[in-house]
Amino acid sequence: MTAGNDVGSAVESAIGDGGLIVVSNRQPYSHGYGEGGDGDGTGDENGSERTITVDRPAGGLTAGLDPVLQRTAGTWVAWGDGEADHEVTNEDGEVRMPPENEAYTLKRVWLDEETVEEYYYGYSNRVLWPLCHGGVWKTEFAERHWQRYRQVNETFAESVVERADPDSLIWFQDYHFSLAPRFVREAAPDPFLMHFWHITWPAWDTFRACPQHRALLAGLLGNDLLGFHTERYCANFLDCVANAFEDAFVDREDGRVNYEGHTTAVQAFPLGVDAAAIAEASTAVGPDFFEGFGREHGIAPGTRIALGVDRLDYTKGIVERLNALERLFETHEDWRGRLTYVQKASESRSLIPEYQNLQTEVRESIERLDERFGTEEWTPVVYLDQFLPSEELYGLYRAADVMLVSAVRDGMNLVAKEFVAAQVDEPGERDREQGAEREGIERGVGREPPGVLVLSDQTGAYEELGEHALTINPYDTEGFADAIAAALSMPADERRERMATLREQVTTNDLDAWMARVFGAADELRATRERNTADGA
Ligand code: F6P
Repeated sequence: MTAGNDVGSAVESAIGDGGLIVVSNRQPYSHGYGEGGDGDGTGDENGSERTITVDRPAGGLTAGLDPVLQRTAGTWVAWGDGEADHEVTNEDGEVRMPPENEAYTLKRVWLDEETVEEYYYGYSNRVLWPLCHGGVWKTEFAERHWQRYRQVNETFAESVVERADPDSLIWFQDYHFSLAPRFVREAAPDPFLMHFWHITWPAWDTFRACPQHRALLAGLLGNDLLGFHTERYCANFLDCVANAFEDAFVDREDGRVNYEGHTTAVQAFPLGVDAAAIAEASTAVGPDFFEGFGREHGIAPGTRIALGVDRLDYTKGIVERLNALERLFETHEDWRGRLTYVQKASESRSLIPEYQNLQTEVRESIERLDERFGTEEWTPVVYLDQFLPSEELYGLYRAADVMLVSAVRDGMNLVAKEFVAAQVDEPGERDREQGAEREGIERGVGREPPGVLVLSDQTGAYEELGEHALTINPYDTEGFADAIAAALSMPADERRERMATLREQVTTNDLDAWMARVFGAADELRATRERNTADGA
């Protein structure tokens, strides 16, 4: 990461002597059972016991925060959802992590099945998720889900309060914990509380549809610092507060709210990716992998590759993308037989009917496309739902000619940034001479680098990358299809120019830079608070 030293000093300065406590729904490490035995501690019929395995953070924010926690010997509070999690924790649900150097404490909060159903699948993902993404008609309000969400927030808040010092810095992540900051503040007024909201914040007209909108806002206003990905989400949040509470003082200019005697700073921090790690991983697989990949999936050498990588979520615009590809093959017939779309998908939140329907719809759309256009020699769409090691995934990013990011609403969309980070190939002189005509680079799939990012204007990433990507409206099937065609035939010089600017943006504003900005803001606010206290303000 580029800003390593900056982030180190920003973190240390912001945390001071009090320690860092991170609160998130997902845990950084989970324990499961390996092969053999039955895991009940009594051994199987051969007398051998199952081994316990550790799942590690694969990437993203969790992987980025892990070294920060290690460096600062902090505490991470999260839902213990691993099958073998209980086996390795003490009576308080704590275990030292990571296993090899035990640098910080992971406090696991146990949630039974009914609680998960109501707090996670219920309120978090059937109310807050669709609401914040602007899909009010997809929300399902149930009083028991709300009550359980409240209760889980209380439980997490108690775990935090038990471990906090007056000068601790407590960092909540995401929409699962809207109420916890207020609960913590009521029990422990001194620690510095900050929160990062990882998804979109909607406009007041949408947000006010939620019966609990005031409680949610009041909960978040327990924080000292509240972060969103973009200025637009900050403005939406401030607007919601101004509309919901007549007695709140809202400073839109400075991004501040004073509510019930407490001030919350509201600021934009666009999340970045660990660009250096992605670049390194993307070069770890070579020609053998791509040849094997092409053979396995029936992709002939020289075939152009369009790629989509998504959690199977209705916000990601996967069906809209498949519709655009269908339109492309209808209206730009010359791409038939020459372009394969690879869809990497990961199953998600499958207990929710809306997500099951999406899974069916995606499969049906792919079958339709393949049946309609596929031939003996050519498969239009390849669907991958298996786990891919990060080297293979980022290798595919690197080889792709076009990356299709078509979310219908997305707080940020890190896939767009990961694609840019993986576009490491600098074309050589020979490539320049042969320009875009040269197909089938030695990797076996794809063509001359760099690839082109096709990006939805409904994502947070659009604010930073929109100008140099090819932007689309995911609902405009015709325009989207034309944009894919334009990306595929874009001259090499233009591709290079666009990608150079995108890479500058993504590598400069990487995950470390983001962390340095968040902790830098916390540090400044803490210093102001201390000065005010000293002055008796
Ligand atoms: O985008 C919000 C988010 O919470 C991400 O931080 C996370 O990667 C994703 O949703 C996955 O959701 P879940 O934890 O429900 O599987």
